[in-house]
Amino acid sequence: MHTACAVPAAIIRPPVQIRQAGFFLTGVRRLRWNLISCGRHARSGEAVDKKAKKKILQMIPYGAYVVGTKTKQGTDHLMFGTWLMQTSFKPPLVAFALSEDSRTLANVRESKSFAVSFLADGMYGVAEGIVDGSFKNVKTERTPSGLPVVAGAAGWIDCRVLEISEKGDHRIALAEVVEVASGPGKLMPLDALKWHYGG
Ligand SMILES: Cc1cc2nc3c(=O)[nH]c(=O)nc-3n(C[C@H](O)[C@H](O)[C@H](O)COP(=O)(O)O)c2cc1C
Repeated sequence: MHTACAVPAAIIRPPVQIRQAGFFLTGVRRLRWNLISCGRHARSGEAVDKKAKKKILQMIPYGAYVVGTKTKQGTDHLMFGTWLMQTSFKPPLVAFALSEDSRTLANVRESKSFAVSFLADGMYGVAEGIVDGSFKNVKTERTPSGLPVVAGAAGWIDCRVLEISEKGDHRIALAEVVEVASGPGKLMPLDALKWHYGG
């Protein structure tokens, strides 16, 4: 499908090597030019083509996770989430992007800790229950530090927050992994639920 940019291609000159490779603004080659233009344009920080942005960002693969925290009053809290990545081997660090208005972020700010359960293939009911807000019916266990994790998950990590980046509508909690467990089964990819979060 043609994913043209909002910027007229003619106002951006391609790099020399691309011009030498013969990318002229005719016929099928115009499509290649548009893709290149999108890249240059996006990097400049100006408006991007919304459809193309959504399409490409939704190609990032994610997993199905549950973030377990404690409220100020000490009760368990679970949130379905997917924006997790490892950011360091030594020390083992991860980043989780948490919605700025989520209760989970408020709990994380307060306690400086969270646990992430890796939902196993087939745990659709657990995922749906947590998204629907009925997480009190989800069977949980506890990490040694007392954070709630989903029973029967593929595994979990227990994290201590080092810093929170305050940029964007999700705040990135950068955290050290201090305890882990892995169970049977494999992480359920978000695709298995046919859900998207991104774009
Ligand atoms: C597929 C999917 C993925 C999600 N991923 C995240 C995520 O990575 N981070 C986040 O903060 N919220 C994510 N959410 C939204 C939260 O689950 C939702 O905002 C929740 O209501 C916040 O719960 P809380 O206020 O109880 O913490 C996702 C929702 C869905 C349906």
